[in-house]
Amino acid sequence: MTDIGVIGGAGYVGIVTGVGLAALGHKVISMDLDQKRLAMLRDGKSAVYEDGLEPILDRLNEIGQISFTDDQSDTVRNSDAVFIAVGTPSLDDGAADLSAVIAVAEGLRDEIGKYTVIVVKSTVPVGTINVVTDILSQKLTEGEDFDVVSNPEFLREGSGLIDFFAPSRIIVGSSSERANAALREIYEPLLAGTTVVDVPWIDSSREIPYVETDATSAQLTKYAANAFLATRISFINEIAGISEKVGGNIGHIVEGLGLDPRIGPGYLQPGIGFGGPCLDKDLRALIMVAGENSYDPVMFNGVLQRNELQLRVVMKKITAAVGPSLYQKRIALLGLAFKEGTNDVRHSLSIRLYRLLRDQGASVVGHDVLAVDEVRELEPDFEVSEDVDGILNDSEVVVALNSEPSYAGIDWSGYGQVERSPYVIDTRGILDHDSLVASGIEFDVLGAVS
Ligand code: UDX
Repeated sequence: MTDIGVIGGAGYVGIVTGVGLAALGHKVISMDLDQKRLAMLRDGKSAVYEDGLEPILDRLNEIGQISFTDDQSDTVRNSDAVFIAVGTPSLDDGAADLSAVIAVAEGLRDEIGKYTVIVVKSTVPVGTINVVTDILSQKLTEGEDFDVVSNPEFLREGSGLIDFFAPSRIIVGSSSERANAALREIYEPLLAGTTVVDVPWIDSSREIPYVETDATSAQLTKYAANAFLATRISFINEIAGISEKVGGNIGHIVEGLGLDPRIGPGYLQPGIGFGGPCLDKDLRALIMVAGENSYDPVMFNGVLQRNELQLRVVMKKITAAVGPSLYQKRIALLGLAFKEGTNDVRHSLSIRLYRLLRDQGASVVGHDVLAVDEVRELEPDFEVSEDVDGILNDSEVVVALNSEPSYAGIDWSGYGQVERSPYVIDTRGILDHDSLVASGIEFDVLGAVS
């Protein structure tokens, strides 16, 4: 077993990585500067909602498998491998902000006292492994004191632990045999399907593909994966737009498309576009890297452009329903987090839609299952609730924005009978259309003729 430090251990990737590695039996020190989150984590609580995380964290705390600190040098001194999981947000021009990664590397340069493998988990543009190596080489010798490895994460928020314990693949990018051996040892329990605490998702009968490559290819694989996912969403949104114009039904089109084994059914839901902390940020960073290397990524620019337009598509549907003036129109938004199953409202297109509507004088109310507190913190004036009934009553327009499963079960009969029944816009095609029809409610499904 390896002594592992996780820098950025209280962030989304850091929490899942730290807990995951500790559950595999490694001794993990999670380091972060956020005191509030550290205190919560010591108490078995996570600031990010992740299904099944807290019971595992509790157990790991209890058996002393994981600890939390704000002291980077202490973490490094007591670790044989250090995972960097700090944030790489977008700069104004779309490039990834590497300042946190650089600051950590400058610390490591002064703190490493024995051979340590530095594992970069954060999504970093091609070339960053060289930057970290250069910083460490100012004082230390590569191969003797350290090696830097790219080991990108493919964690989806809300399913992060499944993605850690039952990954579709593990990618390790390094040219050092010593570092490769260290990484194989770290992931060995996962490949063998063994953990020191109870983890429901581990499956020892399934073989996990383990890909060893060079650092550049590993970093680019991560960007390629997110660019491909973003492309699928913009692709299906574009088909949905055309379908609407020519009188097709996007639900049937997605079904027919997904049955082609070369295409597959996943990740083809049309809607307001891709939000969240990764797809947009990583696609912009890839476009920047391409530009810096004299390559014109025409297709990816189109993917971004389509995504920006989707918000306007939804706005147009709202004004088509209530007329050009939104002043004091009561509009209900269902699904406020950037997707269902998470409480993350950062980069949520629902929140951007709320702001657009609010700025035009609409009276907006919102519903979410998990993210109500987070929305209140971000937008204190936004009237939000966990009670869908209270939100739907009295609304002139209802817009369903993510695929929260309970929305499919809404019984619309009560809302069709009221004096002023709402106009419903289903951007995801998930509502019960039979119930809407039976209730005499007018509705519009994105990508389908109404
Ligand atoms: C994504 C990648 O899936 C993950 O591998 C990577 O590590 C981080 O970025 P995440 O941002 O958590 O994960 O969410 P994801 O489930 O991919 O959804 C991203 C956005 O796309 C959401 O706004 C979601 O609503 C939207 N989406 C997703 C669609 O509009 N249609 C779909 O079919 C799927």
